[in-house]
Amino acid sequence: MSFAQGILKGKSAIVTGGATGIGAFIVRKLGALGANVGIVSRKEENLVAAVKGFKESDGIDVAWRTGDVRDPEGIKKAFDQLAGDIGGIDILVCNAAGNFICPTEDLSWNGWRTVIEIDLNGTFNCCQAALMHLKAATDGGRIISISTTQADFGWPGAAHAGAAKSGIQNLMKTLAAEWGGYGIRANWISPGPIEGTEGVDRLIIQQGLSDEVLKRVPLGTFGQGEDISNAVVYLSSDTGRYVSGAGLVVDGGSQWARGR
Ligand code: COA
Repeated sequence: MSFAQGILKGKSAIVTGGATGIGAFIVRKLGALGANVGIVSRKEENLVAAVKGFKESDGIDVAWRTGDVRDPEGIKKAFDQLAGDIGGIDILVCNAAGNFICPTEDLSWNGWRTVIEIDLNGTFNCCQAALMHLKAATDGGRIISISTTQADFGWPGAAHAGAAKSGIQNLMKTLAAEWGGYGIRANWISPGPIEGTEGVDRLIIQQGLSDEVLKRVPLGTFGQGEDISNAVVYLSSDTGRYVSGAGLVVDGGSQWARGR
């Protein structure tokens, strides 16, 4: 199943945290459908390896810059340089995130602050850094933030990430209202457990929770990276042009089966 070839031709996209995990799946799909893609993350070695992989396995040239989403000036510089490389920014995918499991009573101030700074403040920094370019996007800029269904519930062991992701969802609603006048759409995707990602490995498999989690997925399997990247394409192409301030849940129905 796929979108029409070239549906994103002429579009330029930045994916934060695009070297690994869900971000890398998104990069592959956007590139395969014709977008010029740039990625930003903290570690040069991850970026270099990922760009080599995108070229070798998918035939896609991906631009890259190092940057930490917690550093507003550094991110602005990286985005401006990438925009020069890829021809502007039509699509911003705020995907970079940090998380670890720790009961709230044991969570240090610095642990709390670190995740809030990466996830929530980082998304704010990236939206502001991209704004000038998104305003100039011919068919209206698109911001797509990667959230989680856990943001709509309590998240025992991840108070920092739950609070940050809830904050991101509200930020997208506000930007939809404030920046709609610039033609910018701001939405979020809430993935369920996606196979082959660090999130599932660290937060589910390594915690011995696979069977328990799968019991609560009505469709019976973990999701695939492509399930998320297809949602990104829908929201970033003409297909999603009237969608703004909305969340798209891609979780196999899990959010409604929590009582199982
Ligand atoms: N349990 C409890 N506290 C933890 C922790 C854990 N598993 N991991 C980190 N922390 C605490 C640290 O102890 C530190 O607090 P302290 O100074 O009070 O001791 C604070 O969090 C910051 O940790 P640090 O390692 O300095 O931060 P960092 O910026 O290098 O790393 C993280 C950011 C913490 C999010 C790290 O887990 C990371 O880089 N993860 C990779 C990306 C990721 O998480 N992806 C998401 C997958 S779902």
